[in-house]
Amino acid sequence: MSVEPFDAVDVISAKRDKHPVPDDALRWMVDAFTRGYVSDAQMSSFAMAILLNGMSREEIRVMTDAMIASGERMSFDGLGKPTVDKHSTGGVGDKITLPLAPLVACFGVAVPQLSGRGLGHTGGTLDKLESIPGWRASLSNEEMFEQMRSEVGAVICAAGSGLAPADKKLYALRDVTGTVQAIPLISSSIMSKKIAEGTDALVLDVKFGSGAFMQDIDKARELARTMVQLGTDSGVHTTALLTDMGTPLGLTIGNANEVRESVEVLAGGGPADVVELTVALAREMLTLAGRPDADVEAALADGRAMDSWRGMIAAQGGDPDGALPEARETHTVTASRSGYVTRMEALPFGIGAWRLGAGRARATDAVVHAAGIDLHAKPGDRIEAGAPLFTLLADDAARFERALEAVEGAWEIADDAPETHPLVRERITA
Ligand code: URA
Repeated sequence: MSVEPFDAVDVISAKRDKHPVPDDALRWMVDAFTRGYVSDAQMSSFAMAILLNGMSREEIRVMTDAMIASGERMSFDGLGKPTVDKHSTGGVGDKITLPLAPLVACFGVAVPQLSGRGLGHTGGTLDKLESIPGWRASLSNEEMFEQMRSEVGAVICAAGSGLAPADKKLYALRDVTGTVQAIPLISSSIMSKKIAEGTDALVLDVKFGSGAFMQDIDKARELARTMVQLGTDSGVHTTALLTDMGTPLGLTIGNANEVRESVEVLAGGGPADVVELTVALAREMLTLAGRPDADVEAALADGRAMDSWRGMIAAQGGDPDGALPEARETHTVTASRSGYVTRMEALPFGIGAWRLGAGRARATDAVVHAAGIDLHAKPGDRIEAGAPLFTLLADDAARFERALEAVEGAWEIADDAPETHPLVRERITA
């Protein structure tokens, strides 16, 4: 039996007492946890010490490296085209990956979009796409590579279990020990997966506001800067946009309804905020991939992005013309007075959609693809008394009561139009 070079209690105590954790001790801690030598209780205690006392930039870098080293590193060398990925820290109605990946790919850039499923009030890209009949989220590394090399160019699929297994194990612990909300842990978790994935470039959509992880813009900025630095130090061209997640994105929250809205954007229409963010992120991605002059708006208007979407869906077994599931039950809430919608808070609407069945409470739960919320008006819109404000969608009418409780007080109608703020607030570079 080999002798372990460090003791977990010493590593935890160093962080607890605000002492620097030596590089080799930190690497050992992550490795020994992945092997099962460091227990869940010890790692949870270490995560809490990190949440309370933070980590230096160097510690975050070493932690990220150690998580990358726990699994495989993919490589897209040999594709013959640049690769660029996008990661969003998650929000309500955030379907942007769906139109974005094919839009960017139609300029000859490969997009390896490894995505997740939703947990809690934020939706998951894979859950949304699984509304499409036949579409398959699981691809082997070879299938992924081949799809990126082909004319299709974009892949949205589930991350394999080989990427950063230490993060998978640690994230599951953080989820049940109140240690998710720590910038060193969030940034090392996200960036270990993205760096291990092997993309040349990465654009981060870091959200702030009621529907985001980081409600406060200053914290979101700190998270963005930390992640941009980690990516840059690892040779991945990384930038971030700080975007407002105070209001749901677009007019749909759910799964099938978000696919429908994404297809509208790919057809040259769709809600202004979804188009604005899709275009901003596509420009950012194409700039990092060496195509700063690409006319992304033209590709949405002339059908190239739509052709690219159809190819991407079909390549993964989906029928781009297949009927999307429709909710069996609907309940529409109407405006109680005339005026301007001045507020519609993302978090309560996200929770409402989740309670209707669009999201899951446990990783093993199934989602109801037709469930969710369709909004008929957004902040800034004028509405007349009695006009529909939003519609709840579910397979079982018994779900409406708790969803209505969630959204109670989450919107406001007033005499004057609200002040408007730009959706993309800041751009963060290395
Ligand atoms: N997403 C991740 O992958 N990790 C985190 O810690 C938070 C969000």
